[in-house]
Amino acid sequence: MKNIAIFASGAGSNAQKIIDHFRGSDKARVALIVCNKPGAGVLAIAAHEGIPSILIEREGFFHSDKYVQLLKEQQTDLVVLAGFLWKIPANLVQAFPNRIINIHPALLPKYGGKGMYGHFIHEAVVAAGEKESGITIHYVNEKYDDGEMILQERCIITPDDTPETVAQKVQALEHQWFPVIVERLLSGL
Ligand code: GAR
Repeated sequence: MKNIAIFASGAGSNAQKIIDHFRGSDKARVALIVCNKPGAGVLAIAAHEGIPSILIEREGFFHSDKYVQLLKEQQTDLVVLAGFLWKIPANLVQAFPNRIINIHPALLPKYGGKGMYGHFIHEAVVAAGEKESGITIHYVNEKYDDGEMILQERCIITPDDTPETVAQKVQALEHQWFPVIVERLLSGL
């Protein structure tokens, strides 16, 4: 049985899709939810699903090996960032080479980097008059939104689209593809 740790900061809709995807599987399970934001929706999902969750604090995350050790102790095979808004520190990247992936709600390298998350992205995409947007799933390195790409999927943007409707289109792609890609990567580990 492979162990997935999901890192999330927000509502957790992608976390929920991954949990649903592996429910009843004998190959992999979501073994841990890691969150940096008290009260985030993803914590309620973890509680409802009976999945252990931890609320991490800045000092331990950025200036110690505390959470690296915890992930190792839990025999984590894959770390999945699903709307996790802190940068991943070098010690964590190095402890899990090619075993940390992120989903980004745009076609990287456009609309990536610090401060580019959630609705800010969709607002920028609409303001720029883009004809398409989409998702990027990529390996995580020590820079924001920079590691090797695993998958991009696109959606069309029409002149009628608003940041909200673009968000819906992008979220549909995320929910469709993220669990499938997680499964594909795990089968190669
Ligand atoms: C997702 O759209 C994800 O791509 C995005 O946050 C959302 C989380 O939604 N991530 C980023 O913007 C990272 N730069 P969720 O909590 O419902 O899964």
